[in-house]
Amino acid sequence: MTKPQGVIRPATACDVQRIHEVERACFSDPWSTGLFAGLLAGEESGMARVFVADVEGRVLGFIVAERADPEVHITNVAVHEECRRTGIARRLLDAALSWARSLGLEEAWLEVRESNAAARGLYREFGFVVANRRRAYYRHPTEDALVMVLVLHRGATLPEPLVAASLAGGA
Ligand SMILES: CC(C)(COP(=O)(O)OP(=O)(O)OC[C@H]1O[C@@H](n2cnc3c(N)ncnc32)[C@H](O)[C@@H]1OP(=O)(O)O)[C@@H](O)C(=O)NCCC(=O)NCCS
Repeated sequence: MTKPQGVIRPATACDVQRIHEVERACFSDPWSTGLFAGLLAGEESGMARVFVADVEGRVLGFIVAERADPEVHITNVAVHEECRRTGIARRLLDAALSWARSLGLEEAWLEVRESNAAARGLYREFGFVVANRRRAYYRHPTEDALVMVLVLHRGATLPEPLVAASLAGGA
């Protein structure tokens, strides 16, 4: 597939509707517009960052990173079906992790459906490793979540085997 042009940039309040369209197209249990609007308000206080993939003025993907020192939580990421597998999620995740590293945060955490091969492939590429499982965490349909972690700085307080696996590039 041809790579779409476009930029990864911080979201603004004007992006909420379009972010929500991508959200609704991607998830069976979507977040509300109010939730995104609230996150963008939190962004002003530095506690969250939402990045969007802007292709010729169209928002085709987004990522949400929330600060919980010394961790960053990647709480949402989605790319419109029409432009998947063109590297947009990789660029979004890269932007979110760069933001977290610039703040000196030590670990990145996220949850993913066990059956979500695409997302797990993306996270594995960055070195995320499975740290835990939350039983029946997701709805529509009910499914376990895998909790994944990535070491950003060596000061992390994780158990050594997880640190070693993450620093080795994932498993
Ligand atoms: C997961 C998702 C965000 C990936 O977005 P994307 O822009 O297509 O991903 P990228 O093109 O940046 O892919 C980067 C890497 O991730 C992995 N990957 C992405 N899609 C994949 C798939 N369908 N199968 C296996 N690996 C995949 C690959 O390693 C890929 O690198 P490659 O294309 O060079 O092999 C997208 O599929 C999506 O929006 N899914 C629905 C929402 C969702 O599940 N979000 C995650 C919630 S935890």
